[in-house]
Amino acid sequence: MNLPEFHRGRRLRRSAALRDMVREVSLSSNDLIMPYFVVDTPDHTFRKAIDSMPGQFQLSLHELEKQVAAAVDTGLKSVLLFGIPAAKDPLGSGAYAEDGIVQKAVRMLKKNWPELVVLTDVCLCEYTSHGHCGMIREGDTVGRVLNDPTLDLLAKTAVSHAQAGADIVAPSDMMDGRVAAIRQALDKAGFEDLPIMSYAVKYASSYYGPFRDAAEGAPKFGDRRTYQMDPGCVKEAFREMTADIEEGADIFIVKPAGPYQDIIRMLNDGFDVPMAAYQVSGEYSMICAAALNGWLDEKAVILESLLGIKRSGAKLIITYFAEKALKEGWIR
Ligand code: PBG
Ligand code: ZN
Repeated sequence: MNLPEFHRGRRLRRSAALRDMVREVSLSSNDLIMPYFVVDTPDHTFRKAIDSMPGQFQLSLHELEKQVAAAVDTGLKSVLLFGIPAAKDPLGSGAYAEDGIVQKAVRMLKKNWPELVVLTDVCLCEYTSHGHCGMIREGDTVGRVLNDPTLDLLAKTAVSHAQAGADIVAPSDMMDGRVAAIRQALDKAGFEDLPIMSYAVKYASSYYGPFRDAAEGAPKFGDRRTYQMDPGCVKEAFREMTADIEEGADIFIVKPAGPYQDIIRMLNDGFDVPMAAYQVSGEYSMICAAALNGWLDEKAVILESLLGIKRSGAKLIITYFAEKALKEGWIR
């Protein structure tokens, strides 16, 4: 047989050791941020399974402490906190209360694990009685959040998280101008060195469904399409990124992650800033459901989904799989 020269790709795939050598992208414990849902309750043993997110729980402060203790032992380095307050009101005052649940959780975590990087979600939807991410006008039925009046409340929330000891604040509300408002308030309160990890490019996604059960933050009417991005918009992602860069954010999140890998790639190529992505609740639940049915290999698919997100350009990944991947030793 007289074959022309051709590329023998398999030469570098012959052994695990060779594959390990040529691989350009791999996952590390330094890449992972684990979200937790902490509930303000007098019941110390409160631990409620989230039906639509198998393996995830709403936790009391005490249960969170136990959960994080075990996770830190297996290599977890960073957490993102979501709070579920004891009571909600139209202005979401639990979000910026000094003894709010997230503020208490931050103090507890930083006291126990000073090295743990504690991020806090800055938004009002878990704290407002109407479930929107900011203030609304009385009688509103679509959820057209009042942008500018909401900025003060978000800034107050971020400062209260900083005062509790948060390492990074992460605004997820999608109000225009909120990074500037938060940056200014943090600086004024003496937190010039505290980074903002902005949900710069957050789409109005159906993949957030399970999260809204978990965080009890579903809008009571209307939806979030007047403030989150339309899934068909591409150029707007550049505008949102540019705005948050100019306003002083430090790390930039694309959310959701898997279904928006084109956006992650585009922004990572277009901007010289640190990128993160949020593998959201629906992405998590889909993989869990298929794995529980025996339709997909759980470990393999989790790792491939995370690798895809990192390969598309996100250095950091917020994922509900973080704890498990470290505990099982899948990622080190
Ligand atoms: C609230 C918030 C949401 C998520 C993170 N912060 C839901 C939403 O915007 O409705 C989604 C996270 C997930 O689905 O895992 N602003
Ligand atoms: Zn919100």
